[in-house]
Amino acid sequence: MQAPKGAQIKSKIRVAERGEVLTGEREVNAMLDLVKPETERIDSRFLEPACGTGNFLVEILRRKLSVVDGRYKRSRQEWERNAVVAVSSVYGIDIQLDNVEDCRERLYALFLEFYERRWRQNMRHECRESVRAILGLNIIWGDALSLTQGDQPGGPPIVFAEWSPVNGSMIKRRDFEFRALLPEAEPGLGRAQERLFGEEQESLFGTRQQSLVSDTGQGVFIPEPVRDYPLVHFLEIGHA
Ligand SMILES: C[S@@+](CC[C@H](N)C(=O)[O-])C[C@H]1O[C@@H](n2cnc3c(N)ncnc32)[C@H](O)[C@@H]1O
Repeated sequence: MQAPKGAQIKSKIRVAERGEVLTGEREVNAMLDLVKPETERIDSRFLEPACGTGNFLVEILRRKLSVVDGRYKRSRQEWERNAVVAVSSVYGIDIQLDNVEDCRERLYALFLEFYERRWRQNMRHECRESVRAILGLNIIWGDALSLTQGDQPGGPPIVFAEWSPVNGSMIKRRDFEFRALLPEAEPGLGRAQERLFGEEQESLFGTRQQSLVSDTGQGVFIPEPVRDYPLVHFLEIGHA
């Protein structure tokens, strides 16, 4: 179910059952401005654990793509590579499947808007396919409290793909269970909820913890991937 543009509520039932009230554009921008430099860093990772139709993620991607567009307008290859990195840095979870689908579509439509404006005559099918594939993996239908996929209890664990640019045009993908990224989290209420929705938000893939390694090695947190993939060219992600 699509909310009319600018509407914050899809239906009263959804508000009652899922607490679904979407955040308005003005508030989204005011909040993102609090971390403005991060929103403009192309590879800075963002996870929204109850992303709705993507009001925050769409604005984050818009800011990143604006930077890509300003910086790489002379080279299509560099523009595309950095745009793929920007897309790969946004992650979302929502428990309602239609929201997940809307969110993916909005992010894809935004990417296409930028891509067409800059490279209308020279767009590559493979680049669009890579972006579609990444969004299919990064925007997840699941329960951010039980950390499982789908909206029913007992689903498989939520798994995130980490995308890291290597050697110019190549991308390294590693998959991590969401649970493993929250070292002290317990399913359900409690620590997980605190970490996801409270002030103590974690950085994805443990990068913050890794940067806080002390001389004695204390406080180190390096999550183990559940799957490690061979390097792939950024234009081949859709096929891989
Ligand atoms: C208040 S809305 C906010 C949506 C979005 N973050 C925004 O600001 O526009 C809450 C969202 O959380 C989702 N949600 C509720 N419980 C959830 C859960 N356990 N796991 C993941 N998403 C959940 C709902 O489907 C709804 O889209």
